[in-house]
Amino acid sequence: MFDRFLPYSRQLIDKEDIEKVSSVLKDDFLTQGPRISLFEKKFANYVGAKFAVACATGTAALHLACQALKLKPGDQLLTSPITFVASANCAQFIGADTYFADIDLKNYCISPKSLEKILKKRKIDVVVVVHMSGHPANLTEIYKLKKRYNFKIIEDSCHALGGIYKKKKIGSCFYSEISTFSFHPVKPITTGEGGMITTNDKKIYENLLKFRTHGIHNIKKNFLNKKLAFDKSGKVNQWYYEMTDLGFNYRITDIQSALGINQLKKINQFIKLRRKIAKIYNKGFAKNKLITIPQESTDVKHAYHLYTILIDFKKLGKSRNEVMQKLKDNNIGTQVLYIPVHLQPYYSKKYGFKHGDYPYAEKYYGKCLSIPIFPGLKKKEIYQVINKVNQIISIK
Ligand SMILES: Cc1ncc(COP(=O)(O)O)c(C=O)c1O
Repeated sequence: MFDRFLPYSRQLIDKEDIEKVSSVLKDDFLTQGPRISLFEKKFANYVGAKFAVACATGTAALHLACQALKLKPGDQLLTSPITFVASANCAQFIGADTYFADIDLKNYCISPKSLEKILKKRKIDVVVVVHMSGHPANLTEIYKLKKRYNFKIIEDSCHALGGIYKKKKIGSCFYSEISTFSFHPVKPITTGEGGMITTNDKKIYENLLKFRTHGIHNIKKNFLNKKLAFDKSGKVNQWYYEMTDLGFNYRITDIQSALGINQLKKINQFIKLRRKIAKIYNKGFAKNKLITIPQESTDVKHAYHLYTILIDFKKLGKSRNEVMQKLKDNNIGTQVLYIPVHLQPYYSKKYGFKHGDYPYAEKYYGKCLSIPIFPGLKKKEIYQVINKVNQIISIK
């Protein structure tokens, strides 16, 4: 029995993180200060993108991404049913429609084959590609479809900071217009709540900045209301700003950014630790015939935000609820990530989605269980998890 409860994921905060956050509290700027742009610069540099915009949450990042791409009411956004609801909801915030393509059971990400089937029948404006669990989706195949069917790509990279696809870091936007991240405490790095958006397109970047702050900008050359903007000598009025679109307050604070900067320094170490745990788990479950372990394609680096096993509950003769409870009784937290989004009442009522619409997603959902993986997990705990899981998931 563990002397602490192990959640499926959690943050790792050290003394330096605490010092960096505390020092902001003594400074002039708690928000709208220099740490935000420093965090953005360091982040863009790490993932290899030209621009980064920090914001309030991963959900805000997705909403801003749709706004910056000028998604309109009635436009069509498609994503994977196996994701957090936010990847689908971002279209709804705007009045656009949400559709889904099935997943590939090799990596639990969107299946290019299923996507193409839909593209042949339906006009899709934006595809939100989710790098599920931290395993990069098949970006080259999806990119080929983008060229053929003319849609934009938002990578929902909330699980995949530190992941690599064909030598390019996730977030580099090599195959997409935009990539979005979350810094919720379960994610690869944390700022409490927080998000980041990366892009290589200057226009998109300017739009993101504008929508993050109420639709306001202060780019002199873009001012429309010349009379208000400039004095008689043609100098710009110091107080002047212009609201050209309906935006939001989706800002991150300097307090959060200070934590983000310090967490980002440790991302490679965090991913190394996550990958090490995954390797030990893979070995530990290899002989268990009731468990399917996650796969990693040869051309990617899995960031292992989640370690999700598929369990044959039928053969086991126990329900997932029973298994979760037994593990919980042993201080092992697990989670089901995710309930297929098309089966959420909001979506099934609005669009008529039903059981059987996305068979692979539903098959995955029937079997998945995410077990603890996070950088602070001790070696002894990893082996204890393996022993308990193998003990509970076995036919006596
Ligand atoms: C795939 C995915 N997209 C988006 C989000 C939303 O991020 P946040 O919780 O920071 O709003 C999450 C977080 O749970 C997520 O896992």
